[in-house]
Amino acid sequence: MERSFVIIKPDGTARRRVSALVLKALLDRGYKICAFREMKVPESLAKLHYAVHKEKPFFPWLVDFISSAPVLSMIFEGDDVIQGVRDALGATFVQKADPTSLRGRYGIWAGINIAHASDAPETAKKEIELWTIKGGLKESSDAEEHAKAYIEQYNSGDVDYTMEIRSIVKNAIENRDISDDVLQSLVHYLEKDSKGISPEEISDLASAIFDFVKEEVEKA
Ligand code: RTP
Ligand code: MG
Repeated sequence: MERSFVIIKPDGTARRRVSALVLKALLDRGYKICAFREMKVPESLAKLHYAVHKEKPFFPWLVDFISSAPVLSMIFEGDDVIQGVRDALGATFVQKADPTSLRGRYGIWAGINIAHASDAPETAKKEIELWTIKGGLKESSDAEEHAKAYIEQYNSGDVDYTMEIRSIVKNAIENRDISDDVLQSLVHYLEKDSKGISPEEISDLASAIFDFVKEEVEKA
């Protein structure tokens, strides 16, 4: 039986309904959850997790983003689960992801893409080891129960604010608007469905998204 390490990134977890919908979509594919932990990612763990990208220009941003606010770290198990979860997520960049995929539906922009999933059996093994040793992730028989309780708690209402947040980012980049209003609008929508996430964490997540906008504007 194959295993995959999956993270719902801060942009997913801070929007509680989005994280519940993503979790539900993955469980509906028939996978089992063997470990489930909501946690803030220490910078040191973020750097180790994404070490393969350490020479890339986006690495410092990626480390800031993933450690800005809590994530859900999880181990999924099932037949062909590695490819299955990646198929469900869709392409890395939100604008390139199929609109019916999870990143296409709920991702914000480019690499602000709601989730990580292992890309091969060796990577899955390494990631599970890393997050068990350095991230306090533990296999437990009630992990699935916790995940289902999470879905039950947060999968309500009918709004997820994806379109609003996407528009803020898209318009800011297109209009080269890096005013403080953009940052404030991000905070406004990110905090709407963020039960249990602190104002400081929302502000750090909004700042990470705003930093991406600023980099795009500078590049153009
Ligand atoms: P992940 O590792 O998070 O599951 O994503 P992935 O395999 O689909 O994509 P990967 O190439 O491993 O990139 C890791 C994460 O880095 C961010 N990224 N930003 N600005 C950029 O050009 C850029 N490229 C990658 C994304 O958050 C991506 O998921
Ligand atoms: Mg990857």
